[in-house]
Amino acid sequence: MIRLILISSILLTAGCFSEHPFGRGQSDGSATGELPLTNLSFNSDIKPLLSTCTACHAAGAGGWVYDGGVNAYAQAVSVVSPGLPGQSDLLINTRGAANHGGGTIYNASSDAYNAIEAWIVEGALDN
Ligand code: HEC
Repeated sequence: MIRLILISSILLTAGCFSEHPFGRGQSDGSATGELPLTNLSFNSDIKPLLSTCTACHAAGAGGWVYDGGVNAYAQAVSVVSPGLPGQSDLLINTRGAANHGGGTIYNASSDAYNAIEAWIVEGALDN
């Protein structure tokens, strides 16, 4: 009986995390919050998600330099068409399309991907 309860709470917990794997402002899934899909903030929501890109792009893989430092916003918008997610290389490569050298970083149904898309739709603001 106890074992059954334990197993179901583990499954419940796993379910929660798979639905909302990323907390606001964190890229490691450790937070309890959810990524919003309106009023996105580059600094609080998007930049933490892009920290995973620096592994290859701090060194300029494919010609895109992104080191996540003081120029992070300028570096990010250089591959974004504000308001046009379908024309934004940042988003296209994030989901592994266009033969992205880094493969799929966030799949197109993930919270992280949806948040980046929403930020672009809202005009890719420096906020
Ligand atoms: C494991 C290494 C690796 C990671 C991690 C990685 N990339 Fe890449 N990326 C590459 C390579 C290699 C290329 C060059 C080949 C190509 O064009 O896909 C590239 C190309 C790109 C380009 C095209 C550059 C241009 O100017 O056309 C963009 C945009 C891009 N990546 C975005 C991202 C984003 C956003 C992330 C993080 C969410 C990311 N990448 C994570 C390896 C990586």
